[in-house]
Amino acid sequence: MAELTELDSLEILVIIDNELDPISPCPNEAVQQTGSLKDMGLNGATITGDRGEAKRELRMDGICCSAHGLSLMITGIKDNHRRTMLFDTGPEEQAFERNAKRLQADLSTIEAIHLSHWHRDHSGGMLRAIQMINEPKPQSAEAVAVDLHPDRPDFRGIMATEPISMEADPSFDEVTRAGGKVQRNDQAHTILGGTFLVSGEIPRVTPYEVGLRRGIRFDAAKGTWQEDTVVRDERFVMCKLKDKGLVMFTGCSHAGVVNATKNAVELGKGTPLYAVMGGFHLADADAEMIAKTTADLKALDAKVLLAGHCTGWRAKFEIQSQMPGRLVSSFVGSKFVL
Ligand SMILES: [Fe+2]
Repeated sequence: MAELTELDSLEILVIIDNELDPISPCPNEAVQQTGSLKDMGLNGATITGDRGEAKRELRMDGICCSAHGLSLMITGIKDNHRRTMLFDTGPEEQAFERNAKRLQADLSTIEAIHLSHWHRDHSGGMLRAIQMINEPKPQSAEAVAVDLHPDRPDFRGIMATEPISMEADPSFDEVTRAGGKVQRNDQAHTILGGTFLVSGEIPRVTPYEVGLRRGIRFDAAKGTWQEDTVVRDERFVMCKLKDKGLVMFTGCSHAGVVNATKNAVELGKGTPLYAVMGGFHLADADAEMIAKTTADLKALDAKVLLAGHCTGWRAKFEIQSQMPGRLVSSFVGSKFVL
């Protein structure tokens, strides 16, 4: 496997996340966070009528909307050279499009899309995202790469008193027709010239991270729903930041956020862990699970925990209690610089 480039800095634009809070200040001095109401106002439209000394207007229709899912536009910077990827695409096309436009995100800079796992809250905006990335480019431009695990379930769902099906994820054919270049990967590999590393399937080593409770998948050939708590297709993305260490992005952590972090540290071959960002999937976990996960994250000594999506407020509270100052809540519309 090729080596990871040591990046000078990292920019993360949160296009989709579960929570919106454009007021709370960033609690971690090592992280630069913008996207507050004040930031939006200072970059707002110029006022034409007479409002005294006010020159700019803060418009409510410029604020992002939260949605259940995740989409991060991540740019690695080395010697002023920028390489950008999109980590997941949120749950629905309208949500992705609305927020990307409100953020004035230059989607044409995105060279690769990574899907963390086959679940609609991460894949639902993908086809529109591909179109929006390609729209400003000339027809001759290379198609955006779409990095997908080969094992796409026909449907995924949750077992309640009866199976509840989610909408289907985009198919490989739909991704191709939308203008994406499908790349199927289940092994760890680097992308964008070593700017990022995409993991393979994540080894399950902790005894308490046992997967997605009541997770199921539909096999169309057999016409049956089968248990699928393991979500074997989940993969994370990581990169290496100069003087800081590894930054790991996790979509939903059905493999366990500690399992994913341990695998990232292993793949990092001695580089210390710096930050973990994404969904830790502890929103529906019991207190014991939250305590064990937090204790192990503390032992792994991540300096920054950018928790979002399915982490849940109870787990964030526990992380804040056990590791004061290290938690940064990931809010939709925020831009983080590490
Ligand atoms: Fe999710």
